[in-house]
This record gives sequence, C-alpha cells and structure tokens, in this order.
Amino acid sequence: MYFISIIKRTFSKNLGVLFLRHMSKSNDIACTINVDKQSEDYGGDKLISPSATRNQEPILQVLKRFLICDIDQVEDESPLFLEISSGTGQHLAYFAPHFPGVKFQPSEYDVKVMKSISYYANNCPTKNIFQPLLIDIQNKLSNYGFEEDSIDYMFNANMIHISPFECTIGLFENAGTYLKPEALMITYGPYSKDGVLSPESNVAFNASLKARNPLWGIRDINDLIKLGNENNLSLIDTVEMPANNMTLIWKKD
Ligand SMILES: C[S@@+](CC[C@H](N)C(=O)[O-])C[C@H]1O[C@@H](n2cnc3c(N)ncnc32)[C@H](O)[C@@H]1O
Repeated sequence: MYFISIIKRTFSKNLGVLFLRHMSKSNDIACTINVDKQSEDYGGDKLISPSATRNQEPILQVLKRFLICDIDQVEDESPLFLEISSGTGQHLAYFAPHFPGVKFQPSEYDVKVMKSISYYANNCPTKNIFQPLLIDIQNKLSNYGFEEDSIDYMFNANMIHISPFECTIGLFENAGTYLKPEALMITYGPYSKDGVLSPESNVAFNASLKARNPLWGIRDINDLIKLGNENNLSLIDTVEMPANNMTLIWKKD
C-alpha cells in the first residue's frame, strides 16, 4: 500500500521527514509526507504533504468557480462534499474555511493517515469537516452509509494514477450512483490527452509510477470520458493546473 512504504524517520530542525520519496521540480508528486514537529506534542498526528501544500491554493481557485453555497454555516440542507483519498487531510483543511456552509466529509483507504485527517478536522476554525471515514473506493458507498443520489460534490486528488485502474472504475461508478443528479465530481492530477503524455517530465513520472507498481500509471482523459459515459458522468470542463496537472470537472446527467 502507498502509505505503508515508510523508509525511515529522520528529523530536521523543524520538520521530521516521515516518508521519503522521489521528488521532481516539474511534477507535483503527491508522494512525500512529512510530520509536523510541533504536532509531536500531540502524538505526531499532523502530516504534511509538500505537494498538497503547493497545489491546495490552485485547486481552491477552481473550487471557487464550481462550488455553489450561499449559506455561511452548516445547516441540515448544507451541500455534502465527499473527498476520496484524503491523504494527510490538508486539502479539506485548506478548502473548508472558504466554504463554511458546506459539509466536508474526508475519507481514506490507508488507516495510518486517519489520525492526521482527524487532526486537521479537529483544528478547522469553521468546524465543517467531519471525522474521516475509512473508504475503499472499490466498494459501493452504500457500504459506508451513503444513499443513492445523496452527495452534492465528490473530490479526488492524485489517486487515479497512484492506484490500480479498478480504483478509478470504483470512483466513477460511485460518483454515477451516489452523486445527486447534476452534481459534480472534481478530479485533480496528471492526465494524458488523446494518448499523448507530455511534457517529458510526465513521461518520466509515469515510468517511475509503473516501476513502483505496474498497475499504476497516468490515465488518458479519453479513457476517463468513456468511463464517465458508462456512469452518466459528462466531462464539462478541464482546467490546466501548475506542474503539468489538470483539474477535470464531471457532471452527473
Ligand atoms: C498520492 S496519494 C493522494 C493523497 C491526497 N489526495 C493528496 O493529493 O495529497 C494517493 C491516495 O490514494 C489512496 N488510495 C489507494 N487505493 C485506494 C482505494 N482503493 N480507495 C481509496 N483510496 C485509495 C491512498 O491511500 C492515498 O491516500
């Protein structure tokens, strides 16, 4: 499993490096996670992904275009925003204060990062992040208490290429079933277009992913559009992002 691969634990002046991974200047690789030394006082629960720190603001700017919520605190009718593969939990912690009327539900497959996601949820000033759910996206979301046509937004960053394609199938099947009609799924990461992967740094990144796990790899947008068609999801917008990434906006029919 991705997060299981702890290589070693060393500490710099202010930051303990928990997971060491290949980093590239041109790819925003969500593969390195640090532990905040200050949070050692709280059991070392707060993890930091440098890539999430870099991409959270550009993703927020996209969300501001597509999330609609004109209430300023959580109410019964607040929109529900489900994140699949929350990782450290940083993304929702960064987004939630900008949408205080939205209910943010983080989730993860890797039990070892749940404490970090809880840490961020507990420290969210607007208190609109729920405690994380342990979700394997290959399972139906009904297994986790969700009803069909009940979710207003689904969000996933950086799982599609760092997991077997079955996880992407599960993501689209669940979005097609559990999103409300006309609701949105937002996916962020690197993609190829019309079978062409560029620039060269993404080609090298893809090779490094496949070397780590032959079932991983950067997916082509056309394959995702096909998967969307099979699950009542239409690609309505694509946004170029820094570091050769894209945000894709999917709308349920
Ligand atoms: C590169 S990390 C991305 C984490 C975070 N979203 C980010 O952008 O920093 C990939 C994530 O996919 C998750 N993942 C792998 N298999 C999964 C599955 N079957 N269901 C849900 N998440 C899965 C991993 O646990 C990991 O958190």
